[in-house]
Amino acid sequence: MIADRGAPTPPSLAAPGTADATFRDALAAAELPPGALRRVTFGDHDVLLAHVPDGILATDDRCPHMSAPLSLGTLDGCVVDCPLHSGRFDLCTGGVVRMPTTGGLDADGGYHSPWSPPDREPRPEPTDLKARARAATRVRRLRYYPVRIRDGRIEVAVPD
Ligand code: FES
Repeated sequence: MIADRGAPTPPSLAAPGTADATFRDALAAAELPPGALRRVTFGDHDVLLAHVPDGILATDDRCPHMSAPLSLGTLDGCVVDCPLHSGRFDLCTGGVVRMPTTGGLDADGGYHSPWSPPDREPRPEPTDLKARARAATRVRRLRYYPVRIRDGRIEVAVPD
């Protein structure tokens, strides 16, 4: 199926400067089938395009934890799985589905302990400097860019 629309995104999570940003050509819609993730770059700005069940959306191609490229993750419905610390984020709501393995702070400042996959030893609470830094790292909220489809091309409104 070729995408014909942008997916609705949380209005409170619009990226700054997008209200009057110009739409820019990003990708042929046929190159982003359902379930696909792709990075497109405008200057030094990397944007993630995702084809979720309700259409196509655009957010930063930076994990809201430690900035890993979500475009290298996997998408299941609306949920993207980050390739670096296994955090899971709902692209349709902007919310965290699973905190990263490192634990740390959620967007509201709540602390979450480190965790390990079921086949590994549990991780201890942070003690050394690097572990304390990870524990104090806050998972940010995703920010979205308006998307539209014109003549079979995906266009994204990204500020200059
Ligand atoms: S960078 Fe994505 S979960 Fe850590």
